[in-house]
Amino acid sequence: MSSISIIGVGNMASALADRALAGGNAVEIIGRDPAKAKEVAAGGGATAGTFGTTPAGDLVILAVPYASALPVVAQYGDALAGKVIIDISNTFNADATGLVTPDGTSGAQEIAKAAPASAHVVKAFNTVFGHVLAPGLDVLFAGDDARAKASVSAFIESLGLRPLDAGGLDVARWLEGMGLVMISLASHGVGNFDFSLGFNLSA
Ligand SMILES: NC(=O)c1ccc[n+]([C@@H]2O[C@H](COP(=O)([O-])OP(=O)(O)OC[C@H]3O[C@@H](n4cnc5c(N)ncnc54)[C@H](OP(=O)(O)O)[C@@H]3O)[C@@H](O)[C@H]2O)c1
Repeated sequence: MSSISIIGVGNMASALADRALAGGNAVEIIGRDPAKAKEVAAGGGATAGTFGTTPAGDLVILAVPYASALPVVAQYGDALAGKVIIDISNTFNADATGLVTPDGTSGAQEIAKAAPASAHVVKAFNTVFGHVLAPGLDVLFAGDDARAKASVSAFIESLGLRPLDAGGLDVARWLEGMGLVMISLASHGVGNFDFSLGFNLSA
C-alpha cells in the first residue's frame, strides 16, 4: 500500500483516486479550491489536503495541465522535498501538432529542474486516458531514481495495472510524444478516445 497525494481535482485526479482507493492506498486530494477537493475526496474515502502545504503522501501525483505544473511545483517549493513526484502531464500544443517543450527536454525534466533536489520525478500515466483507466492496462513510466521508480511501479500494480519501465527521465519526451500520437489516433485511425495502448510481451 502506498500513501499518495493528488494535486488537482479534475478528470485524471478522480480516475486515479478511484483506482488507488480500490487498491487499498491512502489517498489525499488537494485542490486550489478546497471545496472541490473536499467534494472529490468525499466520493470514495480519501482525505482532502491543503493546497501549498506539505502533502501527506510519499508519492505526489501532479494532476494539473502541464502549463500549471511548473508554477504549482514552484509554489510548493520545499514542501515537495523528499517526495516522489509523479508527472502525468501531456505536453502537446493546442492543435496536437507538436510538443510545447523545446527539443532535448520534456515536461518531466522541466518539472525535475523546478522541484527540490531531494525530490524524484517519475513520468507515468500520460499514455492512458482517464476515462478508460481500468485493471489490466499497461502504464509506461520513466525516471532516473531506482527507488522512486520501484515505488511508482508498486503503486501502479496496486491499481491493477501493469507497470512497464521505459527507462530514464530522458525518455519522458518520447512518452509525451506517445501522448500526442494517441490524440492523433483518436482523430484518425481509431476515430474516438475509447482505446488504450497495450503491449504484447509474448510476441
Ligand atoms: N484526461 C486524460 O485522459 C489524461 C490522460 C493522460 C494524462 N493527462 C494529463 O493529466 C493532467 C490533468 O488532466 P485532466 O484531464 O485531469 O484535466 P482537468 O480535468 O482539466 O483537471 C485539471 C485540474 O488541474 C487544476 N489546476 C489547473 N491549474 C492549476 C493551478 N495553477 N493550481 C492548482 N490546480 C490547478 C484544476 O483545478 P480547478 O478545478 O480549480 O480549475 C483541475 O482540478 C494533464 O496534465 C493532462 O495532460 C490527462
